[in-house]
Amino acid sequence: MDKKNEKSELLLKVEEKIYPPEDIIKRAWIKDYDSLYQESIKDKEGFWDKVAQELHWFEKWDKVLEWDFPHAKWFVNGKTNITYNALDRHIKAGNGDKTAYIYVDEEGNEERITYRELLDKVNAFANGLKSLGLKKGDRVSIYMPNSIEAIIAMLGCARIGVIHSVVFAGFSEGALHMRINDATASAVITATYTKRRGKKIPLLPTAEKAVEGLDYVKHIIVWDRDKEGVAEKKGERYVDFEKLIEENKGDCEPEIMDSEDPLFILYTSGTTGKPKGVLHVVGGYMVNTYYTAKIYFDFHGDEVYWCTADIGWITGHSYIVYSPLMNGVTSVIMEGAPDHPHPGIWWEYVEKYKVNVFYTAPTAIRMLMRYGDQIPAKYDLSSLRILGSVGEPINPEAWHWYYEHIGRKKCVIVDTWWQTETGSQMISTVPSYPMKPGKAGKPFFTIEVAVVDKNGNELPPNTVGFLVIKNPWPSMLRTCWGNPERYKKYWNDINHYYNAEDLASIDEEGYIMIVGRADDVLNVAGHRIGTMEVESAIVEHPKVAEAAVIGKPDPVKGERIKAFVVLKVGVQPSEELKKEIQNTVREILGPIAIPEEIEFVEKLPKTRSGKIMRRVLRAKELGLEVGDLSTLED
Ligand code: WT7
Repeated sequence: MDKKNEKSELLLKVEEKIYPPEDIIKRAWIKDYDSLYQESIKDKEGFWDKVAQELHWFEKWDKVLEWDFPHAKWFVNGKTNITYNALDRHIKAGNGDKTAYIYVDEEGNEERITYRELLDKVNAFANGLKSLGLKKGDRVSIYMPNSIEAIIAMLGCARIGVIHSVVFAGFSEGALHMRINDATASAVITATYTKRRGKKIPLLPTAEKAVEGLDYVKHIIVWDRDKEGVAEKKGERYVDFEKLIEENKGDCEPEIMDSEDPLFILYTSGTTGKPKGVLHVVGGYMVNTYYTAKIYFDFHGDEVYWCTADIGWITGHSYIVYSPLMNGVTSVIMEGAPDHPHPGIWWEYVEKYKVNVFYTAPTAIRMLMRYGDQIPAKYDLSSLRILGSVGEPINPEAWHWYYEHIGRKKCVIVDTWWQTETGSQMISTVPSYPMKPGKAGKPFFTIEVAVVDKNGNELPPNTVGFLVIKNPWPSMLRTCWGNPERYKKYWNDINHYYNAEDLASIDEEGYIMIVGRADDVLNVAGHRIGTMEVESAIVEHPKVAEAAVIGKPDPVKGERIKAFVVLKVGVQPSEELKKEIQNTVREILGPIAIPEEIEFVEKLPKTRSGKIMRRVLRAKELGLEVGDLSTLED
């Protein structure tokens, strides 16, 4: 495992401990993490039983957990609706006029929506979906900009039990087609375009190409941003997003959902060419996301919060949409790039909206760091209290920059480790707890993790191994859509523990350091990309015979993609051809998956059974030990 050697020196460097400021400790919900954690481990079900009672249920559960390995049911027979907890509950408590979201774009255009207004639109949209014949259990794909409209679409589905499957708007037609088709969505909700770096990037044409030949997609609901009458012009299959809301105003009773009823599918990359549809259900996801946000972000309800992720990823689902609403906070949501029109735009908005809790990814921090300390120095960032990090390991250098130049040493950093599959944050330090730069921290209440070898034996401190979770948790994925075997694999790989497919180590004090993926999955700028997905896209180019893809360390993105390409017989390599191959990947998967570097080779290293040995290519490329070559064919 070459990643191991590379990162082991890091272990020695990360030793420092930083204590949270007094005022943060004073305010914090949790002041005695260690003892509460121990208690929670002794009575896991009792812990979640208490948490779940903070939310509204139409009918209480009879049992907190039913664990029939590897299948879990949480809050068994409980009846609820997550939108009720996200919206109605606050309105009933007299907080309907509170701002739920402040939408901003790169130009400073702003749009606000209160909890009451949001509920009205969600109800109208849900009524609209019903009028189109959609019902509980149907799937709908959402391919939309990071916007209030996308949130209305998601919550509108959840209101009536329609399963949403959001597809990141940066994906292209091939990736979108695969996701719509795998979920057999009855409708696609999209927009005419999304805005980024001052440009309008069309979405509708991509959605239209993606649904070609998919007859079961009955409706294409379009948010017609410039009111061009698109739906009318296009004909019967098309529905205008805003008109649908306008024409279906009125209450929509929340569908009574069983705890274990599906809430959404979200596709994520794995080792095979085809992403898996991670399925989350209503009850456990609701309780777990609500409570982790409350604890790690120390939400009391009066915060302004900004998560810079996109609704197209799990971070957006859990920590832009569902948990901030359930905690009754005001969220900023931005459409656009972090450094456009200028590299201080994020800090400008933090100052303008007096953001208290800010949640972003290390790749963005590293990028903004490069513009220099004088950029954030221009802004008043004194409203900030908690700084979150997510998506990839945060290197100590970026950690310190975030801590000093954004937090001004008055904030805490919560480096939250989790995954699409876990649904909510699993490892971090609660705000009152000492931090170690570069180490995510300790498990959330009731969660038991370990670092083990491939047989499940626990490894000594500071040794890199596989990160596993020993016991079920409420927001764990319930299955992979249409692929129950893949689900079981998570629990059957290593000693009946949940295999996170990450490498990590734990120090003597129990702090966990995440090293990176243990599988053939890349983390490019916090985006999870499967090597085989990229390889399959490359070989779509008519002149390509074979391809192998590796990740190379990148100072900003964490990893960047390099492809080794074998051309078909008689084809001459050229710079032109590299560009064509990059374009093929852009068209099929999207810009995030483009290999920055392409090298033409005669053949690829393979095992005797024909598997590409990416680790050999990677080791050669990076000048590392190649390791065991006994299975190499040639
Ligand atoms: C993978 C999951 C969870 C939301 C965003 C990504 C990596 C995530 C951290 C962190 C080190 C991290 C892991 C994980 N990862 N958070 N704080 N420190 N690595 O969700 O797309 O499902 O990717 O992201 O490798 O397995 P995802």
